[in-house]
Amino acid sequence: MAKHRVTLIPGDGIGPEVTEAAVRVIEAAGVDIEWDRQDAGLTSIEKTGESVPDSLLDSIRENKVALKGPLTTLVGKGFKSANVTLRQKLDLYVNLRPVKSIGGVKSRFEKVDLIIVRENTEDLYTGIESVVSPGVVSAMKVVTEKASYNISRWAFEYARANKRKKITLVHKANIMKVSDGLFLRIFEEVAKDYPDIKAEDKIVDALCMNLVMDPTRFDMLLLGNLFGDIVSDLAAGLVGGLGVVPGANIGSEYAVFEAVHGSAPDIAGKNIANPTALIFSALLMLRHLGETAAAEKIWRSMVLSLAIGQHLTTDLGGVCSTTEFTDEIINEIKTRSK
Ligand code: NAI
Repeated sequence: MAKHRVTLIPGDGIGPEVTEAAVRVIEAAGVDIEWDRQDAGLTSIEKTGESVPDSLLDSIRENKVALKGPLTTLVGKGFKSANVTLRQKLDLYVNLRPVKSIGGVKSRFEKVDLIIVRENTEDLYTGIESVVSPGVVSAMKVVTEKASYNISRWAFEYARANKRKKITLVHKANIMKVSDGLFLRIFEEVAKDYPDIKAEDKIVDALCMNLVMDPTRFDMLLLGNLFGDIVSDLAAGLVGGLGVVPGANIGSEYAVFEAVHGSAPDIAGKNIANPTALIFSALLMLRHLGETAAAEKIWRSMVLSLAIGQHLTTDLGGVCSTTEFTDEIINEIKTRSK
């Protein structure tokens, strides 16, 4: 029997290409994982008519951990986002997105080291929309004390455990006084239990300006679902783009690891996607599974290879295919293992 059993969701678009790269790299590092492959999103709709089939949820509930490729969600029509459904059904209330500069990856800034924590289950992403009258529609922004408390508590605990010094709560409570006002009030209450960690708040528009001018002035950002989604893509742009930023969806029982990027239909099937973000997400997963030595080995191989810069994918200015990039990382891991 394998040491770990993990649900693997190849996903849509570039998903199968980048998840396969991550699986190969993990195997090369010698981690004993049995992968339980499951469909979701568009791929699953085509086969079963459902974007998040029960068999997938059962698999994650049994294995507790999943590695997931991106899932396509049609714009302005079609089924509810499979990502949102997964996060809500498994109560994966934390979306963790570490955004860090990597030597060799060209970007506007050199010393970015941000931890972005996004509330993952409510806000405008509940998808509760209605037609009020012809030509008038509304969308409901839901914020609860419970979810605001849970995410704030998680962020402060993370800060303590990972020696972070400051959390900036990002909101628009000057306009959305009741909903974002509640999110802010709960954050300030929870902050009182953590006098060792600086707590501040910023209005989201000002934060965006500050981030693009000097991201190094921030340490951890805590955001609601919508602002968290937008600001984490913006932050990815500060360190080299969506191809290099990992993520994790975490709840009290289950964890689903995935890159920040989407299914990139414009480059799908061409073997040119950068698998770095998915591999870095897999490293978060390996640490979660207690496989820290293997995670460290893969991390060092990746960082070295990116720094040398001879085997980069096209998004980073190179000419390598997904497979060639992955082969190079595997060579590096094998050299380190000798
Ligand atoms: P996207 O992240 O898929 O792509 C944005 C741009 O970044 C594209 O030009 C793409 O080629 C590039 N890009 C993304 N990942 C890359 C990688 N690994 N290597 C090289 N280039 C990369 O965002 P887009 O186009 O807005 O969304 C496409 C689909 O993905 C939509 O259906 C959306 O709903 C879905 N999506 C899914 C997510 C998930 O499953 N977690 C997250 C974000 C979007």
